[in-house]
Amino acid sequence: TERSLVLIKPDGVARGFVGEVIARIERKGLALVAMEHRLTTVAVAKEHYAEHAERPFYGSLVDFITGGPLVALVIEGPRAIAAFRQLAGGTDPVEKAAPGTIRGDFALEVQFNIVHGSDSAESAAREIGLWFPNL
Ligand code: GTP
Ligand code: MG
Repeated sequence: TERSLVLIKPDGVARGFVGEVIARIERKGLALVAMEHRLTTVAVAKEHYAEHAERPFYGSLVDFITGGPLVALVIEGPRAIAAFRQLAGGTDPVEKAAPGTIRGDFALEVQFNIVHGSDSAESAAREIGLWFPNL
């Protein structure tokens, strides 16, 4: 079994997709280990997206993630990391995410793509430590 860090980003919360995203996680068979609705500090946002620090969209991404409440979750199950990436769909909600995925069904723009999911076991360990240091 494996754990992954999921964020329902501020656009997903503002648009009312918290229940929809959690329902899809549960229907897939993944378990919820931790869940918190919260505002994100700039420090946590920068650390979370540190791999993108040199990208031109980094500043607007940090502003977006800190701009309103989000829901952070830890999910668990067999191949949870890949399983949630499958549910989310590709980063670009129009060009890459298939219909039937969260992004493919509910998003139009790359930055406003509703959810985040860890992309590897190393990322998951780092991100769970960042968002849920007590786990
Ligand atoms: P996350 O699960 O959020 O990490 O998405 P991802 O792994 O599918 O994509 P990636 O890690 O490459 O990018 C992280 C986030 O940065 C994306 O989810 C988008 O919100 C944003 N992003 C990525 N590429 C672009 C871009 O070209 N322009 C803008 N404005 N935002 C981008
Ligand atoms: Mg990523």
